[in-house]
Amino acid sequence: MSLLLGVNIDHVATLRQARYSGMLASPNAEPSPLQAADDALLGGADSITVHVRGDRRHMQEFDAFEIRNQINLPLNFEMGNTPEMVAMVMRLKPDFVCLVPETREEVTTEGGLDVAGLFDSLKNTVSQLQQEGIKVSMFIDPDEYQVEASCRIGAEMIELHTGCFANAVDQDRKVEAERLRIAATLGHEVNLQVNAGHGINLQNLPELLTVPHLSELNIGHSLIARSVRVGLTESVKEMREAMKGYAL
Ligand code: PXP
Repeated sequence: MSLLLGVNIDHVATLRQARYSGMLASPNAEPSPLQAADDALLGGADSITVHVRGDRRHMQEFDAFEIRNQINLPLNFEMGNTPEMVAMVMRLKPDFVCLVPETREEVTTEGGLDVAGLFDSLKNTVSQLQQEGIKVSMFIDPDEYQVEASCRIGAEMIELHTGCFANAVDQDRKVEAERLRIAATLGHEVNLQVNAGHGINLQNLPELLTVPHLSELNIGHSLIARSVRVGLTESVKEMREAMKGYAL
């Protein structure tokens, strides 16, 4: 199977909120995340990712429901482990949930989830979601301890946090790539689906593709940034093209 591309469209909502956060019912409230999801579909996206954060800084609940109901692609819902989000997801019924850490101060999701440290509360949420037929992914740093905890908790997938890899240069980049290779290999050995995400762009993609056993990449910022110049359909097409030829 080829490497899949999940397109995170949160930043389309970031732009809309910058001007229209108090007037979301206005016909002027653009750009539309729903339209962006459709554009991504046309470009060859395999799934759409949205993250409704506790502070609603970008995606709103209605965005997630519109995309769920109107876009014919699997929906990956990123969420913090809170009762509010668990209740929402029970109504939304996405195909996948990716559990992420969430703090108010961060600009974007900054570190991986401490599955080992928060095991009991996460276990409860994972079980609740799985009872609804939702597959669960844990967004973790490329750390063997966290891979092992994600397996023990019963998640179907892990998403390896590629932020440190993406930000590193020279020798540090090689070290981070090796951490990803080790974590991906372990994840595969314990039968977890291995995904990756955060900070991936066309420049760092070739080196990331040296990591084995990847099933899906989740990419947001670089695709939306590029879409300002070429449109989202084209930007997704370019990324898909660059991902071709990856051997699992
Ligand atoms: N995966 C997860 C779990 C994330 O939180 C994010 C950022 O929202 C991404 C992937 C996408 O990261 P980026 O926007 O840097 O491509």
